[in-house]
Amino acid sequence: MTSLQAIRGMNDLLPQDIPYWHRLEQVCRQLMQSYGYQEIRTPVLELTALFKRSVGEVTDIVEKEMYTFEDRNGESVSLRPEGTAGAVRAGIEHGLLYNQVQRWWYMGPMFRHERPQKGRYRQFQQLGAEIYGMDSPLSDVELMLLSYRLWKYLEIADCVVLEVNTLGTSLERQAYRQQLVDYFSLHPEQLDEESKRRLLTNPLRILDSKNPAMQPLLEAAPQLLDSLGEVSRQRFNRVCALLGSLKIPYRVNTRLVRGLDYYCHTVFEWITDRLGAQGAICAGGRYDDLVAMLGAKPTPAVGFAMGLERIVLLLQSQAQLSEDPPDVYGILLGEEAESFGLNGIEQLRDALPALKLKVDCGGGSYKSQFKRADKSGAKFALVIGADEVARDALILKPLREDSPQEVYRLPDLIKYLSQY
Ligand code: HAM
Repeated sequence: MTSLQAIRGMNDLLPQDIPYWHRLEQVCRQLMQSYGYQEIRTPVLELTALFKRSVGEVTDIVEKEMYTFEDRNGESVSLRPEGTAGAVRAGIEHGLLYNQVQRWWYMGPMFRHERPQKGRYRQFQQLGAEIYGMDSPLSDVELMLLSYRLWKYLEIADCVVLEVNTLGTSLERQAYRQQLVDYFSLHPEQLDEESKRRLLTNPLRILDSKNPAMQPLLEAAPQLLDSLGEVSRQRFNRVCALLGSLKIPYRVNTRLVRGLDYYCHTVFEWITDRLGAQGAICAGGRYDDLVAMLGAKPTPAVGFAMGLERIVLLLQSQAQLSEDPPDVYGILLGEEAESFGLNGIEQLRDALPALKLKVDCGGGSYKSQFKRADKSGAKFALVIGADEVARDALILKPLREDSPQEVYRLPDLIKYLSQY
């Protein structure tokens, strides 16, 4: 029989990985709360139509990457490839968006059927943040500030850089789209197959091509920035001025267009060069038209999402984290000692809930249990045998320093261990 394995691109997070995840999740939660964001949790499965209408029919995500299937009612549903569509859907459905300001965050698995490689998976975790009801450039910058603070807390600020661009309004983009089509149509021989296809469907995405042979053509392409109206231009200038005055290191990348269709005005990505091809660790932008596109009253919106696996990879390349060893390792010798000892240990846990106490449930000789106690890294071994049962006492043996073992009555042991 062939052995069953995890689905390609869907990874197990093993116990040795978890300390990095705990650290990241804890810092993120605390950060989101400190900026006044509330958590929202939406289903991993949504109607396929939601993603088609929000992310866009002619994007890679919807065309090629979604896990889509018919459920038992014959309805087309998809595993969420991202979190923004679900957040907007939930906001509309529960009447939480119109004429209100909301700051939300979420964390959870997303699914894209991409070609797996380092930093790119088919199931991956995102932390996202979304602001509704505010259209000022300040709300765009708040998200960049917040993410910058996260990099500082995680001590990875020196290996990331912020790229920003503006996509203007949908009207401005339409005019620019035509300019781009005209320009690229003059040079069909320089376009690769993918770009020829995009010329008909989503020409802005051609600017995002990484194909080295096309770079000169892309460098010389007309720039959206040049065809923006005064209002959009001033808005972008304000974002850049705020970033400058807040000393957030950034660069304008006029070819940053993003792979999802709902964006307008500010878009941004935090990039690192330490992860090879998958350098974007956080990306987002404004999407003022999306709420109306999904059928509700227009509501300005801006947000980002970060790929937590990529951040964990950065953390792992910086520092070694491991789980703290237990404070105490319990060794129980013989049946009588097992019931007496477990009883005492449960009372210890009642009195000292923060104490990390691991019991050797494997049985065996003192020698073999003691070996495991030592290997666990615990500060103390708590040894209970027939003698201890007879005298209603427990032995505490320091494992990391050269001091003698002591015999305690339970109340005295609780008092002693309360200092740890
Ligand atoms: P996105 O650029 O598609 O945007 O994804 C955001 C981040 O998720 C990426 O920068 C990357 O770190 C991570 N990511 C994406 N795909 C993968 C993958 N296959 N494996 C590992 N990590 C991945 C969005 O999803 C938008 N919803 C962001 C947003 C929120 N815009 C406004 N609000």
